[in-house]
Amino acid sequence: MTSPADLSAVDDADALARFDELVAHEQRIEPRDWMPDAYRKTLIRQISQHAHSEIIGMQPEGNWITRAPSLKRKAILMAKVQDEAGHGLYLYSAAQTLGVTRDTMTDQLISGKAKYSSIFNYPTPTWADMGAIGWLVDGAAIVNQVPLCRASYGPYGRAMVRVCKEESFHQRQGFEILLTLMQGSEEQREMAQDAVNRWYWPSLAMFGPPDDQSPNSAQSMKWKIKRFSNDDLRQRFVGMLVPQAEILGITLPDPELKWNEETGAYDMGEIDWDEFFEVLRGNGPCNAERLERRRTAHEEGAWVREAAAEYARKQALRTEGQVA
Ligand SMILES: [Fe+2]
Ligand SMILES: [Fe+2]
Repeated sequence: MTSPADLSAVDDADALARFDELVAHEQRIEPRDWMPDAYRKTLIRQISQHAHSEIIGMQPEGNWITRAPSLKRKAILMAKVQDEAGHGLYLYSAAQTLGVTRDTMTDQLISGKAKYSSIFNYPTPTWADMGAIGWLVDGAAIVNQVPLCRASYGPYGRAMVRVCKEESFHQRQGFEILLTLMQGSEEQREMAQDAVNRWYWPSLAMFGPPDDQSPNSAQSMKWKIKRFSNDDLRQRFVGMLVPQAEILGITLPDPELKWNEETGAYDMGEIDWDEFFEVLRGNGPCNAERLERRRTAHEEGAWVREAAAEYARKQALRTEGQVA
């Protein structure tokens, strides 16, 4: 005789086999499909962290909207920062399809429990930082995110398609800011070089720890969430930067950076991982400031949430009235 527990084990085994088959055949897993708990948890963690990064990432650049050097620069920067808000919203929506609520994710962020990309905990003291962020940070984001357009989880992959189109505009606007500065005065050229010196290494760290110290990567690759290893993506990014730096006339601040004929890849200097983990632990130059700003913005936005909920309540009443 088969007990109910055995039956559900048989069901799960069937469901798992079907899940594995879908993934193996490059089919998408959709919200209503059965999926292993660990897959769901991994996605919730990754997508919500990604969403938080987009939202916190608005701050270093938002800081320059009132000080952009011209009306045109201001309009472009505002559009760019608004795009990042949009990315956060698509991603929160994608995470919600996995059963986590927006309130839970917001709480995790503002209570400091959730992680977000540590790159956004660095300060933006000069206008050239807007160029360096666009060129290097959005550039690294594209290299990371283009393969995510094929992520096995449907809502995540589809959100990424639109995000990547916008990121490529962001990267070009950053490059153009640096190009303009590099064609300007000696002081402007120095400002551009200084910003690249500060953002280069943190942007390389955005790809995560070296492959031999990245414990979750193998499982994510098996599930076809992640397609390439951290080191492969980092190598691809540097390969993209080198010719662009030549056009800019900017020096990438790594004396060991050199093309290696034998390996067919760039040799590069060592990333300061101690610094990376310190910032990740909350001890970067701006961690406290970024979270505090997010918390205040959330509190100040309470009336908007209340108004939206009230509007939704009245709309629902009106619809009910029509049905009756
Ligand atoms: Fe973004
Ligand atoms: Fe961006």
